[in-house]
Amino acid sequence: MKKFLNAALIAVFAGLVLSACNGEPKDTHPEQWVTQRRTIFKQFTRTLEPMGLVARDRKDYNAREFNESALALQKLATQPWPLFTADSNYPPTHAKPEVWLQAAEFKAAQDDYLSRVNQLLAAAQGSDLGLIKRSVNDVQKSCKSCHTQFRNDTGS
Ligand code: HEC
Repeated sequence: MKKFLNAALIAVFAGLVLSACNGEPKDTHPEQWVTQRRTIFKQFTRTLEPMGLVARDRKDYNAREFNESALALQKLATQPWPLFTADSNYPPTHAKPEVWLQAAEFKAAQDDYLSRVNQLLAAAQGSDLGLIKRSVNDVQKSCKSCHTQFRNDTGS
């Protein structure tokens, strides 16, 4: 009997651990809003990365390449926001409820981000490397500031 109980307890704990690691619920919404916007945010990260390396002197600056990245980031910059539809606050989202409760502030954070990205693109079209690097930092700050206000901490 004791053995059986132990085995049962182990099974229960294993189940708990598994469900914890199993992570997130699936995005079952027919429009897949959460999945769609995450795909774009991942592209934000991927597109910004080489410019971030230049800003931290970990990659050589190449004007043509940098310009292409800045342009690509600008193309992406407007894309996630329409995907935060009124019916899209559901698991597995990491968006805070404030996205929907403080729509004007969320819009202001988007506008700040857009203007930082436009400034980065303008800097990239010039040749002032100091300004270019500062503009990358400003974009990164804008990502962070919106995440602090509107995204639950995901550790990333
Ligand atoms: C105006 C607000 C805002 C700005 C600006 C913003 N984000 Fe986010 N980001 C969010 C929100 C909200 C989420 C959570 C989306 C969800 O889970 O539904 C998110 C999620 C993410 C994710 C997680 C995607 C995943 O797989 O869960 C990454 C990565 C990310 N953002 C990167 C960036 C980067 C890089 C920038 C800047 C270049 C940026 N974001 C700018 C609001 C913003």
